[in-house]
Amino acid sequence: MERIDPWTTKRIDISKIFKEFGMEKIDPLLEEIPVKHRFVRRRIILGHRDYDKVLNAIHKHDRFAVMSGFMPSGAAHIGNKMVMDEIIWHQEMGGDAFVSIADMEAHAVRGIPLEKCREIGIKEYITSIIALGLKPENAHIYFQSENFRLRDLMFEIGIVTNFSTLSAIYGFSGDTSISHMSSVLAQSADILLPQLKEFGGAKPVVVPVGFDQDPHIRLVRDIAGKLRRFKVELHDGYIRIRNKTADDDLFNELYKRIRGYGRPKMYQKHIDIFGLKDEDLNEVEKIVRQIEMDYGYFGFYNPSSIYHLLISGLTGGKMSSSNPDSYISLLDKPEDGAKKVEKAKTGGRISLDEQRKMGGSPENCSVYELLYFHLIEDDQEVERIKEECKSGERVCGECKKAASILMEEFLRDHQEKRKAVEDTVESYIERLR
Ligand code: TRP
Ligand code: SF4
Repeated sequence: MERIDPWTTKRIDISKIFKEFGMEKIDPLLEEIPVKHRFVRRRIILGHRDYDKVLNAIHKHDRFAVMSGFMPSGAAHIGNKMVMDEIIWHQEMGGDAFVSIADMEAHAVRGIPLEKCREIGIKEYITSIIALGLKPENAHIYFQSENFRLRDLMFEIGIVTNFSTLSAIYGFSGDTSISHMSSVLAQSADILLPQLKEFGGAKPVVVPVGFDQDPHIRLVRDIAGKLRRFKVELHDGYIRIRNKTADDDLFNELYKRIRGYGRPKMYQKHIDIFGLKDEDLNEVEKIVRQIEMDYGYFGFYNPSSIYHLLISGLTGGKMSSSNPDSYISLLDKPEDGAKKVEKAKTGGRISLDEQRKMGGSPENCSVYELLYFHLIEDDQEVERIKEECKSGERVCGECKKAASILMEEFLRDHQEKRKAVEDTVESYIERLR
């Protein structure tokens, strides 16, 4: 099985992740998503793990959360904006929003001093996500290094995580620094944090990420399972609660609580409950999670995730913070942003003549991607641009000009909104001691 390394800039083969890593396609769930963000309508979000649990919570008005993290290693670009948009969108659908600034990761992996991380975190990420529409009074925004609930949780995670697991997922070797490994645990702790008691306990959590971040998700889902005391399984005609790591006290207490449900029978390492319907599974799960929490454990749900395609870089290849020409930063001067669009790689032909005759190729055009991912909300309009490009009616000069104007407008507007919130941003950062 091939490894995906989230720290390199290699492009990845998405069909492979579906096949080999058991990711689900999002299509069957589309109907259920109450607010159809353009990323959903345009199939930019293609994959998920357990997102149905989140949608269920949305429909039943149960509590759920959305969480993601940002490494403060440099400029936030419009690729990072996708995650910001997704957090905001789920907050609007009723989720508790969590935003982590991964300063421990940036410090350990990129060698950036923590004070610098703080500065970058506030300027590039927190200010922008608030300006884009996150309601900060209803969100938890924090730096990893300042969050001691997170750090306690990292330690718990470290107990159930060993080197072989990390090495299998990330290719870590004997030369990998301990803090690099530790930053992976910090990220898992980010993802599990919304389920702690102080945030209302176990609940579905969705993590919006790019496809390249799936290794982290697989790891945290594995960890969430390992931190459970019990496992609930649906069998033919009965529901089984397996005792994974609970002691006798907890196991007996569970049996007492479950007695009113169906006909439970206790064995040495499991309880089978007969006479229930399949739908009762949820209720049983709930009781089991609750008892874990009552006894000081976690009762975690396996975190859910949704996966978006990465927007291409303006120079072709990946949009990467190490190459400023490849991206548009949320802080680029509007004129400079416009210029970058004018210089971007398109799917045009060698000559104007040829393009009029044969049409361009929007599938291979970074300008089209900007329009499709970010700059145009109206589906019919993007569709029209695509058709006009393919027919040769639209050529790159005018098209880039139009896109660059939209980009300039977006940046100007965004930066004005930033100015309006700038002074209050710091007051929303949580320190959890
Ligand atoms: N590792 C992520 C990155 O490199 C950042 C990150 C930190 C994150 N914590 C997270 C992403 C939690 C998703 C969820 O960008
Ligand atoms: Fe891209 Fe527009 Fe040129 Fe088509 S016309 S290739 S969409 S820049």
